[in-house]
Amino acid sequence: MKVLVTGGAGYIGSHTVVLLIDAGYEVVVFDNFSNASKESIRRVEAIVGKEIVVVEGDIRSREDLAKVFSSYKIDAVIHFAGLKAVGESVEQPLRYYDNNVNGSVVLCEVMSEYNCKSIIFSSSATVYGDPHTTPILENFPLSATNPYGRSKLMVEEILRDVYVSDNEWKIVLLRYFNPVGAHKSGSIGEDPNGLPNNLMPFIAQTAVGKREYLSVFGNNYDTVDGTGVRDYIHVVDLAQGHLNALDRIRNFNEPMTINLGTGNGYSVLEMVEAFEKASAKKVPYTIAERRVGDIATCFADPSYAKEVLDWEATRGIDEMCEDTWRWQSQNPNGYII
Ligand code: NAD
Ligand code: UD1
Repeated sequence: MKVLVTGGAGYIGSHTVVLLIDAGYEVVVFDNFSNASKESIRRVEAIVGKEIVVVEGDIRSREDLAKVFSSYKIDAVIHFAGLKAVGESVEQPLRYYDNNVNGSVVLCEVMSEYNCKSIIFSSSATVYGDPHTTPILENFPLSATNPYGRSKLMVEEILRDVYVSDNEWKIVLLRYFNPVGAHKSGSIGEDPNGLPNNLMPFIAQTAVGKREYLSVFGNNYDTVDGTGVRDYIHVVDLAQGHLNALDRIRNFNEPMTINLGTGNGYSVLEMVEAFEKASAKKVPYTIAERRVGDIATCFADPSYAKEVLDWEATRGIDEMCEDTWRWQSQNPNGYII
């Protein structure tokens, strides 16, 4: 089976490519390298011991995509390509809608032209907005508070409409909770541009000495210690969820919407403590104002993924921190070598 992985050079994509190749899938990576380094591909090649087919191109370009679909007989697409910085999406909404929404529309049009009608899409827990209760089930109300989240909701709805128009489509919408961690080798991992927006890379960069201290965004939430609680999920568990989905996609008779989370929530301070233990480094922090748009608590009910994908996360918080630390300490400057 030949799988096109859009955004396959990025954080989650690169980990998924490793698992796909190890499982015997033929993989074509498609990426415009707007938020990835070619070094990540070389590292993946070293891990799997094989050369990887990579096409440099943009999902918004029909020509770029047609080149891929005419050169390779693609059976299914795992669609990671997209922009993901919430703050940036508020400043540049049109860029986000163009890249994430228009890019997905063009991708589906070209897929349809080449009669490839199986797609797994990277959605996000952000589509639940501020949930009225936790754990979060797939049928909870949906909302978006920023253009990034709205672009994910829009693509989910577009894909459902595509199915209504043509029932041959096989569609899986995976709603990720908070991906962290790295491959065991420590040679691939998350490499954010500039100041990290997300907690785990910020903690890791503080532990390695690149940042002076972590700002904890609020300690007066209604949580165990007042700091925000999230469902951190190891990126390799997350990647495995895509393989389970791919394995079963032919049997799905309607679009499937599935949470990928662990079902456990940890606070910011619990994460700091776990990271200090894993790295044997101090992570100095200061309490700062709440970040606009943040919610107190977010964690998944992962039972539907267990039921329909026979998937559950197996890696706990200590392993997430140990693997992040291995990647961060071996690559203090990420992929810049
Ligand atoms: P990433 O930025 O590391 O990977 C995205 C990849 O897509 C990058 O390699 C980038 O160069 C590529 N890309 C972007 N726009 C493109 C375009 N127009 N054409 C071709 N390639 C393009 O991000 P990630 O963390 O690996 O996330 C992958 C997907 O999962 C994204 O869609 C993201 O929104 C979604 N997601 C991520 C998280 C998270 O916290 N990391 C959470 C929920 C959902
Ligand atoms: C962010 C995104 C969300 C996306 C999710 C997964 C925002 C507003 N939301 O949410 O759309 O789906 O990532 O990628 O960006 N924290 C600190 N200090 C920091 C960074 C974070 O205290 O420097 C806290 C946050 O307040 C939060 C927790 O750590 O309580 C996790 O933050 P983060 O990693 O950004 O994830 P989300 O808030 O879940």
